[in-house]
Amino acid sequence: MPARLDHTIVHARDRFAAARFLTELIDEPEPKAFGPFASVPLSGGVTLDYYDHRGDAEIVSQHLAFLVSEEEFDAIFARITERELPYWADPAHAEPQRINHLFGGRGVYIDDPDGHSIEFITHTYV
Ligand SMILES: [Fe+2]
Repeated sequence: MPARLDHTIVHARDRFAAARFLTELIDEPEPKAFGPFASVPLSGGVTLDYYDHRGDAEIVSQHLAFLVSEEEFDAIFARITERELPYWADPAHAEPQRINHLFGGRGVYIDDPDGHSIEFITHTYV
């Protein structure tokens, strides 16, 4: 059996602001303080631990893709448009203000406050 991802660290200029950006979009509870992290537990047992970035180097953009139901996608997409967030149908940002319909589902990309690429999909890639 392959190992299951338990947690990963996401660098942010403001860990709680970045974590809250996500929890508000996906309608999950407020991030929890855990040591130096703002933690966001997700379905499936993975926790995202947002961490205040240190040093002079720029934050390296990560890609985080979330599989959601059709109903959840509707709600998340409504929050994206209510907030007038830019969104794209593709990871290269070539198709602004559009969603995709790949793999028999829907998908959309947004950037979080630190430039991490957040994707919501209703169907996996395979
Ligand atoms: Fe992706």
